[in-house]
Amino acid sequence: MPARRKTQNANGRPVWADVSLSALAHNLHAIRDFVNPKSENRSTPRKVLCIVKGNGYGHGGPQVAKVLERFGADWFGVTGATEGQQVRKAGVRKPILALTSFWPGEEAQLLANKISPAIIRCEQLVAFDSAASRKKVAKRSAGFHLKIDSGMNRLGIAPTDIECFARQYEKSSRLKLEGVFTHFASSEVFDGPIATQNRRQEESFYKAVERLRALGIDPGVIHLANSAAIASRPETWADMVRPGAILYGYHPSYDPIERRVQAEKELPLRPVMSLRARIINIRNVPAGDGVGYGSKFLPTRASKIAVLAAGYGDGIHRSLGNKGSVLVRGVLAPIVGIVSMDVTMIDVTGVPDVALGDVATIYGTDGEHILPANLVARSIGTVTSDLLCAVSARVPRIYLA
Ligand SMILES: Cc1ncc(COP(=O)(O)O)c(C=O)c1O
Repeated sequence: MPARRKTQNANGRPVWADVSLSALAHNLHAIRDFVNPKSENRSTPRKVLCIVKGNGYGHGGPQVAKVLERFGADWFGVTGATEGQQVRKAGVRKPILALTSFWPGEEAQLLANKISPAIIRCEQLVAFDSAASRKKVAKRSAGFHLKIDSGMNRLGIAPTDIECFARQYEKSSRLKLEGVFTHFASSEVFDGPIATQNRRQEESFYKAVERLRALGIDPGVIHLANSAAIASRPETWADMVRPGAILYGYHPSYDPIERRVQAEKELPLRPVMSLRARIINIRNVPAGDGVGYGSKFLPTRASKIAVLAAGYGDGIHRSLGNKGSVLVRGVLAPIVGIVSMDVTMIDVTGVPDVALGDVATIYGTDGEHILPANLVARSIGTVTSDLLCAVSARVPRIYLA
């Protein structure tokens, strides 16, 4: 069982995250094959832009990008210049897109690291082109993608601003439009009043792309699909897809929920990260004696309570207190009391032969057992990415073949 192997951390504190590179490779290949069905016979296969922002959804952005490049990723998505630079420093050569654009002052860093920013306001072209000019970048060679706000009302230029964009682009002689994209607000929703939003966004987006073409501008690579759209809306795949959550092994929540069962069947994924900590103390607590801060857990029977070497400062969500469970020796042990910053208490009364030093899996795989992060997330009303991104810097990531 992998969870019981003697993983040694750099700092010795027994909390770590195993990152399975074979699961990562499996997911990337599964996604690439899924969006390139043989029956379609496309002359140019759809590309995959791997989302590695948010420190690679907590898995270590530069590390996973480097591995994903080897496994055949075409593009990488980061949030901005600094994350992109870290990915470049890891030796990644494939193109990188800064999804949340740039703030004045970041242009030189983008250019120096060959990171293509998303342009989300027309006037950004002026700033980016001036920076490219100062760097003496050759004509039409500083790449960028145009983000269209097709209805999420968050980031991107409005479809009505295409003319303004086109005028400014003509004047921005160093810049090269490499792609046009949009982001869906609710691609996982197939029921209720917002079920039609995706279609409306697609229509609005393609109208903007057609307008660009009519103005004589080649839009380059067209991309729209995030995880839910990749798994369940083939009409959105276009030239490239942008998987985040599914790359790391988790389908998002769907409405209705049955959609997830279908998605899991059609696109089977493997969880990449397993967050683990060892038991560093075990004590017998009499019935009625409070456990942890505020005595928020009062056992109703004499109980065996174990202490894990991980708390919310490591990424165990505080709202799992008195709610979640962890896997110990293949048995689900309830989290009891309030999760502290550095430790978490679990009730191991029902775990046969439990011993000091045993490894608990907070989520992920433990041999043949699995405690999926998406179920843990749902139990506390959040999303998987929130849990994964919460794994803090002090938790060493251990990359397993
Ligand atoms: C622009 C963009 N594309 C793709 C993604 C990936 O989303 P998901 O994790 O749902 O695949 C994100 C994540 O927030 C995003 O901001």
